[in-house]
Amino acid sequence: MCGIVGYVGNKNAQDFLISGLKRLEYRGYDSAGIVTLDTDGGATLLRAKGKISNLEEKLAENKREDKIGIGHTRWATHGEPSEANAHPHRAGAIYLVHNGIIENYKELKEHLTEHEFKSETDTEVLAALVNSFYAEGKYPLTNAVVQALKLVKGTYGIAVVSTKNPEEIVVARSGSPLVIGVGHDETLIASDASALVGHTKQAIYLNDGEVARITKNSVEIKTLNAEPVSAKVEEIETNLAAIQKGGYEHFLLKEIMEQPLSLAETLRGRVNLEQGTVRLGGPGLSEAELRKIKHLIIVGCGTAYHAGLLASYYIEQFTPEITVETVIASEYRYRNAYIPEDSVALIVSQSGETADTLACLREIKKQGTKTIGIVNAIGSTIAREVDGGTYVHVGPEISVASTKAFTSQVIAMVMFGLTIAQAKGAKPGTLRPYVEEIAKLPEMIGKTLQSVDKKVQKISKKYKNYEHAIYLGRDIAYPTAMEGALKLKEISYVDANAYAFGELKHGPLALIDDRFFELALVPEGALYDKAISNVQEVLARGGHMIVVTNTDFALEVDDVIEIPGEIKLFAPILMNLVSQLFAYYMTTAKGYNVDQPRNLAKSVTVE
Ligand code: AGP
Repeated sequence: MCGIVGYVGNKNAQDFLISGLKRLEYRGYDSAGIVTLDTDGGATLLRAKGKISNLEEKLAENKREDKIGIGHTRWATHGEPSEANAHPHRAGAIYLVHNGIIENYKELKEHLTEHEFKSETDTEVLAALVNSFYAEGKYPLTNAVVQALKLVKGTYGIAVVSTKNPEEIVVARSGSPLVIGVGHDETLIASDASALVGHTKQAIYLNDGEVARITKNSVEIKTLNAEPVSAKVEEIETNLAAIQKGGYEHFLLKEIMEQPLSLAETLRGRVNLEQGTVRLGGPGLSEAELRKIKHLIIVGCGTAYHAGLLASYYIEQFTPEITVETVIASEYRYRNAYIPEDSVALIVSQSGETADTLACLREIKKQGTKTIGIVNAIGSTIAREVDGGTYVHVGPEISVASTKAFTSQVIAMVMFGLTIAQAKGAKPGTLRPYVEEIAKLPEMIGKTLQSVDKKVQKISKKYKNYEHAIYLGRDIAYPTAMEGALKLKEISYVDANAYAFGELKHGPLALIDDRFFELALVPEGALYDKAISNVQEVLARGGHMIVVTNTDFALEVDDVIEIPGEIKLFAPILMNLVSQLFAYYMTTAKGYNVDQPRNLAKSVTVE
């Protein structure tokens, strides 16, 4: 996902733009650029391929005291990563930065014959389109932007400035977030509130279809149809410390280690240990509406999908009278799936901006199905479009690999399931074991991380040269194995895949040879003996087996990693911590970029 920043005020614009873009680096990008305006009608445009440090090299020779500017980090969608394709893009007196995709840019480009195109991007077409209304003073900047956006099909979050008036920035959004920071004699913009932290705590989240004209001491918002919108100023939740690495070498390790705290935030005010019940206000469903639910659809991508799959096993355990279907958003959005009456859809997304998940949300809403968000990013697009929702409140998850969000997403959905079971009159006491373990989880996560960290670090060195891995689990350990395999593959680039233990003999068993190591999640419980015989199948074929378990493990395997046994029902949540640490240490042992793995972005806002 690209990043946008902007500044107008009394301080040095270049300083804010660069520091703001650095806060947004975690989103993943392949080029960056800034433009600042002086009071003589001039502009200083600096762009560079690659990291922001390359841009800073250019800045060193182009320092300006300008008080207004915009900046951008680009993750290429149209046109390869290059300086020419980097934003901001210029057309006449205006400069524009853009997140999103202009789907009809080719048709628009055909009519913009006056403009000499210098890039392959859809964004430059948008800049030229705005200028076609702005040049020769036909429209003031805001109106020129509005006229252009009325012709656009696609998604955008944009910021536009003009050398003719170095006092104003025009911003607009449809499908790609933009937040306005209200400061003292300065106004800042960003595509993500973390860029504003430390500058202001007052934020205005723009909604789709809104355009704002900002100056250093004014914010004027209208719809594309020129209806005035009253600005709703909200408190920015994220504090500066929350986005620093907190003393860890990488965001990923910080986010793994802070799961006792982040899960405690998710549970805050939602668990009543006395009564053995949970309470979620956000979904906004009455007892009667909860009682009526017969079918749940859980929608997500990647880790969010795995969280939904794991939660679905639990929900089926304590609400046998409802069916639960977990779907991959990029698949489900194109299926013409029938959604039965009395269904509710859980839309799971850490960033709240994932294009495929958002598209599913919109499709499902068209069918009149109630949608509940299980989201982390406050004010994100998904969070604003669902009918109700539960924020998981894990704080900013900076590392591309999702860890603390997974743990909290699972538990938040389990709690949603418990509220359904409670409303349906579950026999007293049947839900208490789940509630009691949930209440204990933050402390047990801390204990588990403490007890396994060193051992996992040591073992990961032993396996660091393997190129292939098989993760295995049965029942609630199977979605957990899927999540563990994703963690390993997305940051260490090991070809790791997960299989249900019972599926081994239907094909994957043929893979076992010295190229592979196996990691099996074997919790105590009714299926423990079955898992033992599956492990034997693998060992008999010369497997190199790591077993993660919460009980004494009966067989001789290469390595056993034991987690505390007090947690029975949610043992997979603790086992997953081992997979998270294992992926982290394998990646650091290989010397790869832990927080920004190749080819990936933190939030996939393109399809
Ligand atoms: C998980 O580690 C990956 N970063 C990725 O699979 C991610 O979970 C997926 O893109 C969904 O993101 P979201 O939760 O922000 O919607």
